Amino acid sequence: MKNWKIILSLLFLGTASVLFLNGKEKSIAQERLPKQSLKIGVSLYRADDEFISAVSHSLEEESVKQADRFSQKMQLKIVDAKNSQTIQNTQIDEFIRQSYDVIAVNIVDRTVASSLIDKAKQADIPIIFFNREPIPTDLKQWRKAYYIGSKAQEAGEMQGQIVWQSFQAQPATIDHNQDGKIQYVMLEGEEVHQDSLIRTESSIQAIVDEGIEVERLARGVGNWMRQPAKEFLREWLGKYPQQIELVISNNDEMALGALEAIRDAKLAYEPKVVGIDGTKEGLEAVNDGRMLGTIINDYQTYAQDLLTLAYVTSQGHRIEAYLPDYTNQYVWVSHQIYLRETNERDTKE
Ligand code: BGC
Ligand code: CA
Repeated sequence: MKNWKIILSLLFLGTASVLFLNGKEKSIAQERLPKQSLKIGVSLYRADDEFISAVSHSLEEESVKQADRFSQKMQLKIVDAKNSQTIQNTQIDEFIRQSYDVIAVNIVDRTVASSLIDKAKQADIPIIFFNREPIPTDLKQWRKAYYIGSKAQEAGEMQGQIVWQSFQAQPATIDHNQDGKIQYVMLEGEEVHQDSLIRTESSIQAIVDEGIEVERLARGVGNWMRQPAKEFLREWLGKYPQQIELVISNNDEMALGALEAIRDAKLAYEPKVVGIDGTKEGLEAVNDGRMLGTIINDYQTYAQDLLTLAYVTSQGHRIEAYLPDYTNQYVWVSHQIYLRETNERDTKE
């Protein structure tokens, strides 16, 4: 009985499509069909990460604008992997099972991208990694695997530049004890993240390259989060009273944690703090003078580029024509220095 029903409905569908495919009827029928949405599945390594949540909000906002731009409905499904690779793997399997058009991954563990790329390739679904960079040889496994991110070295060097420019302009504002050296502490992101080590090294290198001496008093891995950074600072401020002149933080959230601990400590002299990201609160801290400066890690451009890439690759268009920053499966989003004066200049314009 069941089989008969299936056969009958197949026959009906067959006849209907023959009719539709008949000359004029075909185009009318196609015009009447609602335009299919481009289904984009996005998995975030953890949604409670401040920067990632900013990217995620921008994706929602940008999907409306990009849909207009390309006259293509976009259906975004954003899921949280809660810092678990196992959860993320299941999410990707589910996107594949539901035949999503494009998959975007903010991968939890950047060393295991290979198996995800493999699955996407089997299903012929383009896969776009962002912010957490796969090993280059893994990405090269398939031409429809991409990475959108920003260069850690550029961010680190710009952060160092904020420090050396401020030191050169007025040494005493940073070198409080006037021994000619900057006594600093370093707040680092996750050890497995490509940005942590490179930002850490290149920020210091940029300062040293200017002939400025530095002395590291302490370092700590705060995993990008505000609370652990606050605890580190509380401990270090107790251990080195009045000696810390500068806090270099791999991101704004940890810089904000440091600022909270500094405020609570009620010091006669407060260390200078520099961050990276330009999150909403990070920019506010720079604008009101609590933070020396930050680096804008342009999450809006991330979102724009991701959706553009998703559309272009799903249509099989030439990517370079839509994304000038694209080369060989990579899109690099550039950073910008953000100081209080930057904002003052901006508002005067
Ligand atoms: C950002 C951090 C964020 C991390 C997440 C980094 O590029 O600067 O704020 O926590 O990416 O992967
Ligand atoms: Ca000093």
